[in-house]
Amino acid sequence: QTKMVHITNVDAAKNVFEEAGRIIRNGGLVVFPTETVYGIGANGLDAEACRGIYAAKGRPSDNPLILTVPDKEAVKKVAAFITPTAQKLLDTFWPGPLTIIFPRQPHIPDAATGGLDTVALRCPDHKIAHAFLQAAGVPVAGPSANLSGRPSPTTAEEVAHDMNGRVDMIIDGGPCHIGVESTIVECNVDDTVTILRPGAITLEMLRKIISNVLIDTNLVTGKGIPKAPGMKYRHYAPAAPMTVAVGTVKNVTLALRERYTKAGQEGKKVGFLVSRQVAEAFPKEMMYIWGEHGDKPALASQLYTGLLFFDNVKVDYILAEGVDAAGLGMAIMNRMKKAAGGDVIEV
Ligand code: TXA
Ligand code: MG
Repeated sequence: QTKMVHITNVDAAKNVFEEAGRIIRNGGLVVFPTETVYGIGANGLDAEACRGIYAAKGRPSDNPLILTVPDKEAVKKVAAFITPTAQKLLDTFWPGPLTIIFPRQPHIPDAATGGLDTVALRCPDHKIAHAFLQAAGVPVAGPSANLSGRPSPTTAEEVAHDMNGRVDMIIDGGPCHIGVESTIVECNVDDTVTILRPGAITLEMLRKIISNVLIDTNLVTGKGIPKAPGMKYRHYAPAAPMTVAVGTVKNVTLALRERYTKAGQEGKKVGFLVSRQVAEAFPKEMMYIWGEHGDKPALASQLYTGLLFFDNVKVDYILAEGVDAAGLGMAIMNRMKKAAGGDVIEV
């Protein structure tokens, strides 16, 4: 039985956080909102509780969990050491959508780290997450709250779809405002930093404080083994095939029109996942408008919900509009490219 709790006023919800903290310390599972996506929490120091997460998600056991902490102080209890580069990242970007890989202390169970000698740590910038993590009093293993192979949920309704009956409690804090998972970085011995998964802490933001920021070659070429084990799995793709076009309103409209005409001739039901400007050129039904042309935060926050929408209305083909890869665009296009099976056209 899953208890669903809706929180609007964090300060008035003390009893909810106390109960959620108790569930965690007793080995149970609590879904909580963050600024990126919803997470499914368990006591990160309790191997049995961590195994509960793998069971609830149907997640392969070699894919390590992120440990979520309420503040910077907690890193000292989990990481074997903090390099000056890592400290700089913590001081600049925490709390926020940046996950940092640290060497782990021996008491962190293999069940949390997938047997790796490192541990991924993240401190969400979210009032509800913070209150929950403080009440838990232990590092909380907190991967995204989706069934393995589905998109990360950004609303409590999407969480309930996947997790109802599989967890003890779902804390509903409304929609997550960023909408794509955190940036994951690794600090190398030579003071360089490597991005393993792009997110809302962008390459450009990292370069402002770290002189040499690398990108995991797998992210760039699609070849080799990604350093974040989870990036190797076939990620969520909508039930229908999808084409993504990137460019000016005019060029995207032309490119999508060509494919729309062809799909029409084949009798296909087409869905559009586009900006308001591009939407104007197409019929209004089967339309998911993510925002204004080029508005990356809007697209990031709407992307997963939009893809799920087209699964529900059962279209045969999705025509989508992407954004350029600068800034937050790198995180967005990383997800869109996977969802489209690589069918991305630049026009
Ligand atoms: O925004 C987020 O990070 C969300 C919210 C809920 O906090 N969490 C999230 O967790 O996206 P998850 O488990 O879905 O993705 C974690 C990724 C996986 O690709 C995993 O392989 C990688 O982090 N990872 C975890 N520990 C690692 C480690 N020690 N070394 C390299 N990659 C690691
Ligand atoms: Mg995930």
